[in-house]
Parts: sequence; C-alpha cells; structure tokens
Amino acid sequence: MTPKILVTQRIPEPAYPLLEAVGEVDANMEEGRIWSAEELLQRAPDHEYMLCLVTDTIDARLLEACAPRLKLVANMAVGYNNIDVATAKRLGITVTNTPEVLSDTTADLAFGLLLATARRMGEAERYLRAGKFTGWEPLLLCGTDVHGATLGILGAGRIGKAMARRASGFDMKIVYYNRHRLPYEEEQRYALTYASLDEVLQQADFLSIHTPYTQETYHLIGARELALMKHEAMLINTARGPIVDEKALVYALQQGTIAAAGLDVFEHEPAVEPELLTLENVVLLPHIASASLKTRTRMATMASENIVAAAKGQQPPNVVNL
Ligand code: GLV
Repeated sequence: MTPKILVTQRIPEPAYPLLEAVGEVDANMEEGRIWSAEELLQRAPDHEYMLCLVTDTIDARLLEACAPRLKLVANMAVGYNNIDVATAKRLGITVTNTPEVLSDTTADLAFGLLLATARRMGEAERYLRAGKFTGWEPLLLCGTDVHGATLGILGAGRIGKAMARRASGFDMKIVYYNRHRLPYEEEQRYALTYASLDEVLQQADFLSIHTPYTQETYHLIGARELALMKHEAMLINTARGPIVDEKALVYALQQGTIAAAGLDVFEHEPAVEPELLTLENVVLLPHIASASLKTRTRMATMASENIVAAAKGQQPPNVVNL
C-alpha cells in the first residue's frame, strides 16, 4: 500500500518530488498558514509519515492519535523541542531533525545580530528613516567595539563553534560554557577557553546563546544570571526564547543591568514582550537565523530524505530518539 505523507506547512519546492516518489503527499500549500492543534489532530491520523516545523506542536495527544500508523516525524529544524520525543519513542515513532546544514547560516545571522546590537544599527536605521539625519556628528549613535571584545558562548555545539570561527575573525577573545567540556584539540581549533557558567557571564562583553532548549535550559538566563553580567554587556539569543526569562531581560534592559540585547527568538513566540518593542537598546528579528533560501531548501530536502529512507525500509540518517 502506498504510504501517506503529511507536510504540515509550505516548504521549498525541491522537497515535494522527493516525497512524491515514495508516497502520497498530503500537503498544506497555503503560504504562511500554520494549522492549529485541532486541525493537526484532524488531519494527521492515517498518515505514515509527517514532515513538520518548529511552529507545529507535536505533543503526546497528537502522537497517540496518530499511532500506531505513524512511523516517523521529520522535523525541518535542528531543534526539536516542539516534539514530545519521549512519547514518540514509547509509541515506536522515529523522530528526525536537520543538523549541520544550517549551522553556518545560523551563525552568520547570530554574528550579524551581535554586530547590529553593538553598533546600534536598528536604532540608527530608525533614526535615518524618521528623517532625523542632518549630517555627520562626532557623537552620533556611538556604539561598542566588537573587535577585541570578549565573547561568551553558551553551548559549544555545531552552531556555537561556527559562531566562534566568526568571532576569531574579529579578534575576539572567546570563553565558553558547555554541559560537557570539549576535547583539548577542539578548544584549540576554535580558540575556546572553558569556564563555568558564572565565569562566562562575568567575563563576557557579548553573550551568545547556542544551547538546545530542554528542561535543563529553561530560563538558564534569568535575573540572577543577568545580574552577574557586566553593565556594558550585550545578550544575543538565536537559540530558543524560553532559555531566557524574557520578563527578567526586559527589567535588566530597563534598569541598565546589561546594556543591550539582540533577539531572534522569544519566550512566547510569535508574541513578543510588549515592552521590548518600546526599547531602543534591542534589535528584534522574527526567528530568521536559518532563513537563507539555500539553507531552507537543504533543510527541506534533508527532512524529506529521512522520510524517503524510512519508506524504503532503511535507517533514516538523522534520528534523534534512537
Ligand atoms: C530553527 O529554529 C531550528 O531549530 O532549525
């Protein structure tokens, strides 16, 4: 029997023929439309495979409704905190992600956001567009130097290391904290100095978050951690919103506990703490770190290849719940 494949959102075109070659594709083709939990619950059962995205919540209720027919959930993302992986495992449902292919694109954006935050680019652009630019001024919109500053990296996985490579090009000193210390050769290769979480917080001029979002990293950065940071420090988050206590961050930015923040992700995405929108010392982006067409196409292809492998009776290459 031909397997049925559900594609929950519109994805880059090259993925569809890959999936059509191994099954009957039932795809949401409405650009920008995300099915609600109830719609997913109605549509997903009676499919063998599902290709979904970080904005789809694949919880126990949905997985239980889809089992035992559902064999594999392919997330078109490296992070998979939107999927109840333990329940999937219990039900014998394989979960896959899309690692590697987005590391450089994500680090490009993270470093760009760091630069934009340090050099007040968002604020400067708003100033110019508002017609306020009347000429060069010695003290106009002076920011902070990135070169020579200390970058604190939280999470030295693939994206954290890609961030470190960019920082080395800017002559930054790099300290990092990771659950497991990296082997000496890797620390050497990426010019990384290991420190405890508190030491990284205390030393960083820029703190960039690259940890996965798990129960342990929920509010990893809260009021206590922000208070340990330098008053001149800036926080960059391109990982997941709930790793930072967003209300504590707003308070810290208002009080001058830290100087600025660059955020691509939010605690209650797509909602943004309203006060953040009123602050000049933040640069805010709509979760676009991996958003180059080339990378999104590779992610869609990779997610599809996991389904293709499973449909052919092979081991999918990117299983996260073995
Ligand atoms: C996007 O946020 C991803 O995890 O790939």
